[in-house]
Amino acid sequence: MIRLRPAYADDVAALAKLGTATFTSAFGHLYSSKNLASFLAQTQSESRIASNIADPAVLYCLAEDTASGNLVGYCKISTNIGLDYDPGSTGAIELSQLYLDDSQFGTGLAGQLMDWVMDEARKRHCNEIILSVFSENFRAQSFYHRYGFEHIADTIFMVGDHCDAEFLYRLTLTD
Ligand SMILES: CC(C)(COP(=O)(O)OP(=O)(O)OC[C@H]1O[C@@H](n2cnc3c(N)ncnc32)[C@H](O)[C@@H]1OP(=O)(O)O)[C@@H](O)C(=O)NCCC(=O)NCCS
Repeated sequence: MIRLRPAYADDVAALAKLGTATFTSAFGHLYSSKNLASFLAQTQSESRIASNIADPAVLYCLAEDTASGNLVGYCKISTNIGLDYDPGSTGAIELSQLYLDDSQFGTGLAGQLMDWVMDEARKRHCNEIILSVFSENFRAQSFYHRYGFEHIADTIFMVGDHCDAEFLYRLTLTD
């Protein structure tokens, strides 16, 4: 069984391992080893994850396999919008990472995590969820479209010194 739960300080090592493994599995082939290592050091180091967990603007939802105790997916949201998007007076939440272990693709777990994101946004009276998705990540794009996300702008994403073309997606929440 998979259960969803928040992240705690003692999840740092497991989350760094999962974040590194899932990003590398999905996108590692796109980058030089130098760019990949630099990106992972910046985003998936234990110190970075520890500071994210301690940041009140950031929330993680972890998916844990209760039989093994292993983490098999996670997502991260923040009320600090780091993307090139100005929400104006509309409250917005940024979904900055949604990653599953390959074994969980197509199981519905991503949908459970997205439901959690939408619930958290509503609890915080945020009307919009913003994210950036790689322009060639067709599977994730299909998933987001299913939830009603729309492509509102083009943007970029840096992995080391490699620049990816990305799409800015927005979901406007209605009651
Ligand atoms: C993105 C992710 C969380 C989605 O979870 P998932 O379990 O794969 O999603 P689902 O299976 O529920 O939905 C995937 C959709 O893409 C479709 N799909 C699968 N392969 C596809 C492809 N190559 N091109 C287009 N659509 C594709 C599926 O049919 C499904 O659409 P449907 O429900 O309309 O039939 C998961 O794939 C993942 O962790 N990927 C790697 C990391 C990643 O890309 N994260 C997002 C970063 S923005």
